[in-house]
Amino acid sequence: MATWIITGANRGLGLEFAKQLLADGHSVIAGVRQPEMMEFDHERMTVLRLDVASTTSVHEFAENVKLATQSIDVLVNNAGRMDGRWQSLEEVDPEVSLEVLNVNTIGPLRVSQALWPLLEGPNPTKIANISSLMGSIDDCMSGRSYAYRTSKTGLNMITKILAVEGKNKGISVTAYHPGWAKTDMGGERAPVPVSVSVQGLIGLINEQDDVRTGRFFEYTGDELPW
Ligand SMILES: NC(=O)c1ccc[n+]([C@@H]2O[C@H](COP(=O)([O-])OP(=O)(O)OC[C@H]3O[C@@H](n4cnc5c(N)ncnc54)[C@H](OP(=O)(O)O)[C@@H]3O)[C@@H](O)[C@H]2O)c1
Repeated sequence: MATWIITGANRGLGLEFAKQLLADGHSVIAGVRQPEMMEFDHERMTVLRLDVASTTSVHEFAENVKLATQSIDVLVNNAGRMDGRWQSLEEVDPEVSLEVLNVNTIGPLRVSQALWPLLEGPNPTKIANISSLMGSIDDCMSGRSYAYRTSKTGLNMITKILAVEGKNKGISVTAYHPGWAKTDMGGERAPVPVSVSVQGLIGLINEQDDVRTGRFFEYTGDELPW
């Protein structure tokens, strides 16, 4: 059984990751902004404070992870935020855009950097970045959502760079689109149940290896264009 770290594990896809992984017998370290508000608990889950937008918080989180476990097998960079849906050029707020980039792009970079020493070692380990089809330049037909789209495009590039960095160190790094999933972010009209999205993602992450590193997949297994 493996040890997985899930960021943003208090609701939405992150919480579902924790629940399914625990049901499969794995151990989970849940990174959440407010551990005291976490309603779900489990004997194989450790809940630690984490704000991916803060370098200080990420460093404290990494220190606490080291106290909780000697090694990790999988890091899922799941925490993310919207920018206000489908904002046009007139509506986009540059200051909010910087916050979105901080959380969605630099957040996963911070966490990966801080936990990299725990991922290095003799056994293959994995980073799974929860991106979005909205970040695909090839797929950008409807425009809008400047900040969110750009934040995920940036995350895709970070995935590629980390994959190169991890190639000779046994660390695979892959980007995933969870589908339009029914969470607070996805909204009520989203067609993909959270359980289906996460089941697909876990299956793909289990298969993640040095062939699939540096690539971009949908939860269904289809490969996506950058
Ligand atoms: N749902 C979809 O249709 C969809 C589609 C494509 C991609 N995604 C991606 O999937 C991931 C999960 O989304 P979701 O649908 O589960 O969204 P969600 O229900 O809105 O949950 C977002 C999670 O991220 C956490 N978070 C936000 N900012 C954070 C920060 N600074 N530090 C730590 N945690 C933070 C939230 O914590 P708080 O409770 O503290 O805010 C929450 O746990 C995101 O990266 C999102 O971009 C979702």
